[in-house]
Amino acid sequence: MNGKQAAGIQAVQEISDGMVVGLGTGTTVYYFLEALAEKVKLGLKLTGVATSQQTVELARKWGIPMKPLNSVQSIDLTIDGADEVSPDLDGIKGGGGALLYEKLVAVASKKRIWIVDARKTVKQLGAFPLPVEVIPFSWKQINRKLENRGLHPVLRTQKDGSPFLTDARHYILDLHLNTIENPSALANELDHLPGLVEHGLFLGMTDSVIIGYPDGHIERL
Ligand code: 5RP
Repeated sequence: MNGKQAAGIQAVQEISDGMVVGLGTGTTVYYFLEALAEKVKLGLKLTGVATSQQTVELARKWGIPMKPLNSVQSIDLTIDGADEVSPDLDGIKGGGGALLYEKLVAVASKKRIWIVDARKTVKQLGAFPLPVEVIPFSWKQINRKLENRGLHPVLRTQKDGSPFLTDARHYILDLHLNTIENPSALANELDHLPGLVEHGLFLGMTDSVIIGYPDGHIERL
């Protein structure tokens, strides 16, 4: 057992028959999907809406019924991971590169729960580099603007040195900030940069957090 597994398994308790469930992305969500698939095998009925191709593939492999976001009216509950969570339930997401679809699924959801291990809880956001998703056509322009603002962008790359591509075929710049003094001011600024498609600040975008510990115990925020 590890903290991610404890949180992922616990989240399955939140799912009831007939729900439309948003399925997040990442290694913590992996454990949630694995446990959810067991329930589906035992007869639980649900419709999953995935936030990434990675999650689509896992859900398919494990027999979790899926629909694309455009084929559902709304989502009852989304379970997703996070890279950092502050005491007021703001967070950084996008370490796995799925921030755009994760945010679109989150805003379509009536209720949202994050599953994290205890290392993800922080007093102040920003030690984890903040991902921003950008249009490849103008990435260098955006990069320059962010550099001039002192936001220390670094292009995310793959092992072979080529740019990491999101499911929507955008690039990611990771902002190395150390601390974010005013998350909503930064979010507002990033929201208004043309070509910057989305950022990983998820402010007021979860209703609750399940924190898992390596000994298997759980805390709720
Ligand atoms: C992907 C995400 C993930 O939820 C976040 O990176 C946490 O991942 P993990 O559970 O693997 O630590 O936002 O874009």
